[in-house]
Formats: sequence, C-alpha cells, structure tokens
Amino acid sequence: MAEHGSQSAEETPWWRGAVIYQVYPRSFADDDGDGTGDLAGVRARLPYLAELGVDALWFNPWYPSPMADGGYDVADYRGVAPEFGTLAGAEKLITDALELGIRTIVDIVPNHVSSEHAWFRAALASPTAPERELFWFRPGRGPGGELPPNNWVSEFHGSAWTRTTDPDGTPGDWYLNLFDSRQPDLNWAHPQVRQEHEEVLRFWFDRGASGVRIDSAALLEKDPALPDLVPDATAEPEGTDGPAQPEGTAGAAGPEGAAEPTRPHPYIDRDGLHTIYRSWRAIADSYPDPRVLIGEIWLPDTERFARYLRPDELHTAFNFDFLSCPWEPIRLRASIEATLAAHAPVAAPATWVLANHDVTRTVTRYGRADTSFGFATKARGVPTDLALGTRRARAAALLTLALPGAVYIYQGEELGLPEVEDIPPDAIQDPMALRSGGTSPGRDGCRVPLPWSGSEPPYGFSPVGATAPPWLPQPTDWADRTAYAQIGEADSMLELYRTAIRVRRAEPSLGDGDLTWLPGAPDQVLAFSRGNTFACVVNLGPDPVDLPNHDSILLASSPLPPAHHLPTDTAVWLRL
Ligand code: GLC
Repeated sequence: MAEHGSQSAEETPWWRGAVIYQVYPRSFADDDGDGTGDLAGVRARLPYLAELGVDALWFNPWYPSPMADGGYDVADYRGVAPEFGTLAGAEKLITDALELGIRTIVDIVPNHVSSEHAWFRAALASPTAPERELFWFRPGRGPGGELPPNNWVSEFHGSAWTRTTDPDGTPGDWYLNLFDSRQPDLNWAHPQVRQEHEEVLRFWFDRGASGVRIDSAALLEKDPALPDLVPDATAEPEGTDGPAQPEGTAGAAGPEGAAEPTRPHPYIDRDGLHTIYRSWRAIADSYPDPRVLIGEIWLPDTERFARYLRPDELHTAFNFDFLSCPWEPIRLRASIEATLAAHAPVAAPATWVLANHDVTRTVTRYGRADTSFGFATKARGVPTDLALGTRRARAAALLTLALPGAVYIYQGEELGLPEVEDIPPDAIQDPMALRSGGTSPGRDGCRVPLPWSGSEPPYGFSPVGATAPPWLPQPTDWADRTAYAQIGEADSMLELYRTAIRVRRAEPSLGDGDLTWLPGAPDQVLAFSRGNTFACVVNLGPDPVDLPNHDSILLASSPLPPAHHLPTDTAVWLRL
C-alpha cells in the first residue's frame, strides 16, 4: 500500500482546509446491477470526484451489516459488506483515489454493534455468558422484571431497552440500545471494548485510510449506575410527536434551542470520553502521515464541544450548529462567530456542513417557511419552493466554501438534489421512520440513489440490464438533475461547485485561516474578507444591495444585474 506523501512541519496539514465529499456507498453508484451502490461503482467514478476537485472522501459504513440502520449496525469492523464489494476492493479504492490526490476517511461506529456481531450473539447464547459484560445487560424492574431498567429513550423512539429471551424460552434480562434494538450499546468501561477499537483504527490506518469519522462520538461512556434521566434532561419524552434526534436529544442543539443537558448526563458528553480520544490521537499521530480523527458531536454548548478538539484529542468535528441554522443573516453570522470563537482557544479549524445522510436536503429546507433543521420538527407535507431553495443553496455553497476551515459536501448536494418526500410507505427503510409509528418521515429522503445520466430511473445509477431497481425509488423528474445533464451547463449546480472548488484551491487565503467582517455591511448582508484580496458577500435580504469596492468578480451564485448590485439570496466572491 502506497504511503501518503510526507508533510513538512511548515505546511498546513491538509485536513485544516480540506473539501471533503461524503459518499453514502449504498446510493452512489451501482456497478454490479443489484440496485445497491458498491465500491466498484465509486472506483469507476473517481474521475468525476477528481474533476469536482475534492481533497478527501468520507465513506459511510461499508462493513458487513444486516443494514438495520443503513450499515451503522456493524457485524464485522474488519470487512466489507458483500453487497458493497470486498476488502481487497476497498484497499484498491483507497489506493486508486490516492493516486488522484484524494484521501479516504472511513466511518468508525464505536457506540454500538449490530445484534449480529459475534460478541452480541455470544452474549445472547447464555444469561451467564462473559460477553454480556461487553454490553449493558440488566434485569428489568417490576415484580417479574417486565419494566425496562430505566427511563432512557431511544434516539429512534421508544424505550432504549430491549428484553431478551433466555435460551430456555423464559423472558430474560434487558440490554441497552440508544438507537435501534438491533444496535446494542457497548460497555466502554470494559478494557476489551477499548482494545478492540484501537485495533480497528490501526486496521484501517494500515490500509491507507487517512482518517476516521467517529459516529455518535459523545455517547460512548455511560454512568454505570444507569440512573433514570431527570425529566428536564429527557428532551424527547415519549408521547410527543417529534422524532428523536440522533446524538442525544438532550444534548442536541435544536433550532428551538434545546435545553442544556443536566451534567453529568448519564450518557452524553461524559468526561471520561476525553481519555478515550487521547489514546486514539496517540495512535493517529504514530503514523508518518498522521491520520485524522473527526467527531460526530452534537452538543449545544460550544465550549464543551471545543474540549474534544484540544490538541491531543480529535482534529475536527462536524459543526451542527451551522447546519441547523436558518437561512437568516443575523442567526448565521452569530453561528459563524460562535464557531470561530469556540475553536480559537484550542487552535482547531472549524468545519462547515450544510447536509449529510441524516438531515433534510438543503434545497428543500431552504425553500420552506422554516429554513432551520431539527429532527424534532421534521414532518411530512411541509410546503417548499424548490426554485427559492436552490437559489439559496447556491449562495450557501459559496458562503461555506469561503469560510475559514474545512467543508463537507454530501453526495448529491453538488447536483442540487431535493429531499425525496414521496417514498412509498412500503419502501421506507430507515428505523427512525419505522419506529416512529408514522410520525417521522425518517432519513430515506436524502439517501435516494444518485442520478448520473439519462432521462428515467435508474438514471445510470445501475448499469443497463440491472437485475433489480435502485434500493430506494428515484423520482421520475430528475432528468435535468443528472450529473451528465449538468456537466458543461454554466448555470448548473454542478458547475457552480466545480468552479468554486477550483477557485478555492487556487486562492491561498481560502481554507484554513481567519476572516475579517467588512465594516458597514447592512444587517441583511454577510460580508467578510479572507486575506487582503478576497471577499465573500452574501445578500440574505429581500432587496438588492451595493457591492463593496472591488477589482473584479470571481464568481456569483446567481446572475448579477449590469449595475453590479447584489440581488436577494445571492453570494459573490470578489477580488479586492
Ligand atoms: C449517527 C449516524 C446515523 C446513525 C446513528 C447511529 O448519528 O449519522 O446515521 O443512525 O449515528 O449509528
């Protein structure tokens, strides 16, 4: 396996200003025609990704899995799901991508395993199996143990506990699952759990992975007493309409301003996590080209969030505050400022994320009356104006790509794909929807297979002669959203992303660094410079505004009138 190019001490580490493209392997490209995306499909489209100009790919889990939660139920951390390919195929993908200058980040899922994982199967085989210590097995409450051990609520609705049946057929202990019942939580107080994950990190780092994205990174450690949550810390009590929120409802920064968790919370953001991540950092740093740790951390408290980014812990974490923020100038500016202020003391770069495989697609969200994102407010049948949402998503793309730090692009964002909101009920796969009793649309709507070419499903996602349709049905009106239809079309979303990333790469002041707010901009405008010669100006108000003095216009998210006024919902990059 080729070793990564070495990096001199003076160079800025690549991850501080990277553009990272998120691949949801199931939905990217299907090479073998079974209706499910696969790693060979990604390999075949590496030139597309190189042309887009991204620095790295983050892959959602590709491991063997029953796919109860889209692969976040991992049965074997050292393999590749047969429907996605083979371990050798993953190694080849990592090598081929690197030859094009694209690094690979794999998704590590340490909070829970699949109920099909060997440890959990062994744990279920006998009430006295030693493997039970690797999980959270407890007797139930009530005379016959028929009540769950505590009142914790699953992030996917219902109790966070599932009762087992002993091999003799009698009802047995319960086990903890913060997500689906097929995702039992691991006991991170057990040394074997720690050792196993350290070995898994090395396994993928040794195969050339440049880093890991750490799933549910703030949830691993539990209070061993497993106390009931006090009511005000249970942000999603049963019986409310909204769906649960991934990553600890009690700790998620919802648009409504979710309550701070009572500390110490029994399973969110516990202090012992920092010891775990320090040991991971030592492993990442032990490689000649140090590997990168990226945390999925939903915490409303930016100071607590930044603690994970201290120099001997994680390198970066997703900025969910910005992702959840409405398309509203004062709120966005406040989010940007709070982000930069929180990162500065730990000298970590910020990240900017508009979308991922869990949240509503940007062009749909920005076309709604409420443009914020929150799991609890996700509902069916919310009207949206896609033309408006697309216009704003284009401006948001230029905004994020100009901010200091790293940027994540979720596959299909560069094509301007909308959320698919009419997936037939019998095609829904997401446990968040299935466990909600019909109240939550779940997350399948942003996971629909990508359209590559042609005028009807499967739009080149699967090859001609495929034996099965795409695993989620694609809309019939995506002909103009295919990659092929957009290549070379000057006003397409794809060309906007390609051009913006190209300009960003060539612009030394973009990526890592600082920003300076331009004085005198009206409240409806976000205007900042990067270095002395570059500025980004975004007009979020209803009326056109004057542009600040500039030399030339590098790029605009929508056509500009001749007088160089900046129209509503438009962003522009200026040479000062
Ligand atoms: C993270 C993932 C989400 C998954 C959950 C449980 O929030 O992004 O897709 O369902 O963790 O692993």
